[in-house]
Amino acid sequence: MFTNKTLITKSPVSAGEIIREGGVVVFPTETVYGIGASSFNHDACLSIYRIKNRPPDNPLIVHCHSIDQVTEIAHLTGKARVLLERFAPGPLSLILKKRDPRIFSTGLSTVAVRIPAHPTARALLEAANLPISAPSANLSGKPSLTRFADVVAVFDGKVEGILEGEPIEWGLESTVIDLSTPIPRLLRPGSIEKEDIESVLGAPVEIPHSPELLSPGVKYRHYSPEGQLFLVDSLETFTSVAKPPNARDSKIQEEDSPIRIAKIGFGFQPQSERELLVASNEEYAAKLYSFLVDCDHNQVTHIYCQKPKPGKLYAALMNRIQKAGAIG
Ligand code: TXA
Ligand code: MG
Repeated sequence: MFTNKTLITKSPVSAGEIIREGGVVVFPTETVYGIGASSFNHDACLSIYRIKNRPPDNPLIVHCHSIDQVTEIAHLTGKARVLLERFAPGPLSLILKKRDPRIFSTGLSTVAVRIPAHPTARALLEAANLPISAPSANLSGKPSLTRFADVVAVFDGKVEGILEGEPIEWGLESTVIDLSTPIPRLLRPGSIEKEDIESVLGAPVEIPHSPELLSPGVKYRHYSPEGQLFLVDSLETFTSVAKPPNARDSKIQEEDSPIRIAKIGFGFQPQSERELLVASNEEYAAKLYSFLVDCDHNQVTHIYCQKPKPGKLYAALMNRIQKAGAIG
């Protein structure tokens, strides 16, 4: 089913009908927007790859409304039950052994499952009454989207439905934990921290040396704006273009293009609308992707991201800033 007419709606029931009929719907979750289809409809799932230009070996997260639904599609281990009872609904994805062969997967024997907390996502899952396979709603390689207007700008005319709902709370994608092996592994840091998982399990969680071998999506360039991104300790010094000495292969051809600077971080005096002051790691996480999207809209050439503060969300923020191609 492909159409260039997109229904933009606030009705989870209408959006759920589109999913049931084999269409693709963009919808909000508490982390970032997702672009979803019925997990049972392989053609609809494949069209998500076409729309996003997503590499075909990068599997999708299956969104479920309840632990019972997870149990139908995957083998729920004791550890998985303990984690879901503590953190679901919420920003946690678990890799489990797949149980229901009808679920779309990219040839893997495992499946990522997540029970989102966002009320609009939950209403959609209830209306569709099906598991929904959904990656983040962004073109592959570009920053994930956290604002409704950005979603409409990118996906209107490309999907059957866009569901509007409550604003997004977290701004960074879910924590991904692999429970398909005896020792749990952190494949992607998020707002539920490694230490949170360890304390609930009462057992250590490994950080694999090469998560890209275990989680296909991790090896691809992600979240990447057009400008060159720099990870810096302090923002004050970067008032004109001052590249860190180790800057290499800048994407910018400096002779031909005007220099435009943007900054995000703590405790500095913003000098323009492209400079974003945040008060905490939570605010940094909530605004990072929309800041990067704005950098592209404003043809920013040099983006300075200050290192997040030690503590909560540090690992998730560093992971996303580095995946976005930061030098420094
Ligand atoms: O917060 C989120 O998780 C958002 C919202 C929409 O739910 N979704 C999201 O999906 O971030 P995506 O596709 O952008 O990231 C999913 C990650 C990818 O790195 C993918 O490779 C990994 O999860 N993944 C999915 N299934 C897997 C599997 N069976 N084994 C290993 N990794 C898997
Ligand atoms: Mg993604």
